[in-house]
Amino acid sequence: MSVSYMTHPLIKHKITLLRKTSTGTNEFRKLIEEIAMLMGYEALADLPTADIEVETPIEKTVQPVINGKKLAVVPILRAGLGMVNGILALVPSAKVGHIGLYRDPETHLPQEYYCKLPEAIDERQVVLVDPMLATGGSAIAAVDFIKARGGRKIKFMSIIAAPEGVSALMKAHPDIQLYVGCLDRCLNDNDYICPGLGDAGDRIFGTK
Ligand code: PRP
Ligand code: URA
Repeated sequence: MSVSYMTHPLIKHKITLLRKTSTGTNEFRKLIEEIAMLMGYEALADLPTADIEVETPIEKTVQPVINGKKLAVVPILRAGLGMVNGILALVPSAKVGHIGLYRDPETHLPQEYYCKLPEAIDERQVVLVDPMLATGGSAIAAVDFIKARGGRKIKFMSIIAAPEGVSALMKAHPDIQLYVGCLDRCLNDNDYICPGLGDAGDRIFGTK
């Protein structure tokens, strides 16, 4: 598995703002979307292109456009939803799937409650998004689900990751591409990321 850690100062700056307890729901949502867009720009740098002929006001010319079947953006619910519009701002024609998972509060293991993917998923570049990669359980289950339906080209984008989650995902799915906004120190006894940002879903949706 290839792992890319974001180095752009704008991504670093916005992740720092995201962490602050004083950042309210409205600003938090905007930041998640902006970071997703900036990370998406980096993560989609290897999209295939094909040359087409276009006519400018001056002359005919052959120039590149994105090639292949439309890509599929797949958020892990709930928190991944906050990243979707950031990717769609870059690739408005992308299809969107959904994978519903929550961590059981006792066992911290992912529980599936909803899944729907765009058709012909085997032919699409899948961009799986979730702001948090903690133990890696949710990410591994989501990739298992996509692969079970034929998905093969998978990029996973997480804004904050714990080393434990990166290792677990790398071991379970060595063939995917992982993009991490910031690698944090460790997990605490509740499997929350330290220093992290708390519960991403609650902060995006203003729950709890
Ligand atoms: C959070 C987060 C990830 C998961 C990460 O979701 O958005 O999906 O936890 O933890 P893991 O790597 O240990 O599996 P949560 O289960 O809190 O659900 P929510 O997004 O609905 O709040
Ligand atoms: N899920 C979150 O939302 N935050 C964490 O730190 C870990 C899992």
